[in-house]
Formats: sequence, C-alpha cells, structure tokens
Amino acid sequence: MNDLGDLDRRLSASGGRILGPVHLLRETTSTNDEAKDGAKRGAPHGSIWIAESQTAGRGRQGRTWTSPRGENLLFSVLLRVTARPERVPLAALVAGLAVHDAIAETVARDRVKVKWPNDVWIDGRKVSGILVESTLQRTGPSVVVIGIGVNVHTRSFPEEIESSATSLALESSTPPDRGELLIDIVKNIDRDVEHVLARGLGVVHARLSEADGLRGMRVSAGEGTAAVVGVAEGIDVDGKLQLRGDDGILRRVSSGEVHLSGVRRMAE
Ligand code: BTN
Repeated sequence: MNDLGDLDRRLSASGGRILGPVHLLRETTSTNDEAKDGAKRGAPHGSIWIAESQTAGRGRQGRTWTSPRGENLLFSVLLRVTARPERVPLAALVAGLAVHDAIAETVARDRVKVKWPNDVWIDGRKVSGILVESTLQRTGPSVVVIGIGVNVHTRSFPEEIESSATSLALESSTPPDRGELLIDIVKNIDRDVEHVLARGLGVVHARLSEADGLRGMRVSAGEGTAAVVGVAEGIDVDGKLQLRGDDGILRRVSSGEVHLSGVRRMAE
C-alpha cells in the first residue's frame, strides 16, 4: 500500500488543477461507482478514488475488469467540465493518450500505442483499459468520470487473456511505483482535457495520430451482418476512426468496438 501513500501532497506539488482529494480504498465494487456517488454528494472537480481491489470492476461493452488485490492501478477521476455534449467523448481519447504518455516514460515510446478509442497496448498486448462514464448537463458543468486500470505488477493472467494482456512488470526492468504512475497520468489528463473539451482535439490530434496503434491495420467494426471490415486510416480531428472498407468506402466510426480482423482477443 505504501506506493500509494501521500498522494494528496504529491498531487498538489504537481501544480495542476486535478488536486484530489484522493480516497484510497482497500476494497470497493468499482472506483467508477465511488466517483459517481461522490459526484452526487457534491465532490469537487479533481476528486480521485483508488482501490486495491474491486469486487465488480467494469470494462467497456459490459465486460468485467478483474485485478488481483494490491498489484495494479485501479482508479477513477471525477471531472466537472463545461463542454458541448458532442465533445464529451473526446475525454476518453485524452485519457488514452495520457496513459500512453505516462507508460512511455517507462517503456520505449515506439512500443506503446493507443488502440482507438482508449485502450493502451505495449507491442500489441493490452496493458491498460479505460472506462469513461458521463452525465451531461444542459446548463452548467457536466460530470465526467474517467476510470483507468493499468496492469503494473501482475505477471500471470487468466488463460483466456494470457496471450493478449501484459503488464509493466513484464515489459520493463524498472516498473514505476503505482503512485508515480497515477500522478503522471493525472498530470497528462490535466494538460489536455479542458482545452480539448472546450475547443476540440486541435493540437492533441498530432500526438494522438502518432500514438495510433490501429493505423494501417486490418480491423472490423460493428457486429454481425452490420460489421465493416477494412483498413484503419487514422483518427480524424473529431476523434472518429476512419475505416476504409473492403468496398472502398471510407467510413467514420464513432463508437463501439473495433477488433483486429481475424483476431478476436479477449483482452480487447
Ligand atoms: C476496458 O478495457 O474495457 C475498460 C476497463 C476499465 C477498468 C477500470 S479499473 C478502475 C475503474 N473502475 C472500474 O470499474 N472500471 C475502471
């Protein structure tokens, strides 16, 4: 637990606008639930909930997120932001880039990629997943909860994801402590999020494109008969994935899951 100590002080020394308070929990259902409850009780912008263990950790698309107690980083940040509703999903891209940049301090940058919209890969294996949940307001700031899981110390994974998941301990001889990693991620979110939500991806777009792990890959988007298979042609300035279908048509994918074509991996 000591690598998560003293985070309020360490955050305020980082000089950003995400300053806690930090709620460190031994166990909870999901840190996203804690953050959403906190929001209803009036918790301020920048509040953070971290757990050593979650009993009902959630992923995107109704998946679960499991993590052995005390090994990994599991946290949620509450943001109160004024933004046009169509811009709020950009917070997920900002979070993915924030995690990417923090991990690239530890693992060679060219090995670390964002898998649109917001998973992070090292050499094509998932090291981090992000779940953003928001409550939009017509007037006044919206509540955006960014929940982040990073595999830090886990060295063995359940059979169904062992070929598609990884951790910092497996990929780096000097994995960061979890507190240091959290502070780096939060600083990176803080660097970009208000600007992006107010004005769009703008300058962040170039950095995101450089980190894009899907560009040039064969992927499929959508399910069943509605699935489109083709080649990913990058993320556009609105944060959408451009997918050139095998029929030659360029589509802009705004939500849902994208799978590497022919490879459906459980950790995606
Ligand atoms: C995904 O890959 O589908 C997203 C996984 C998000 C997991 C994190 S762990 C902290 C926070 N609390 C949750 O219940 N989920 C997110």
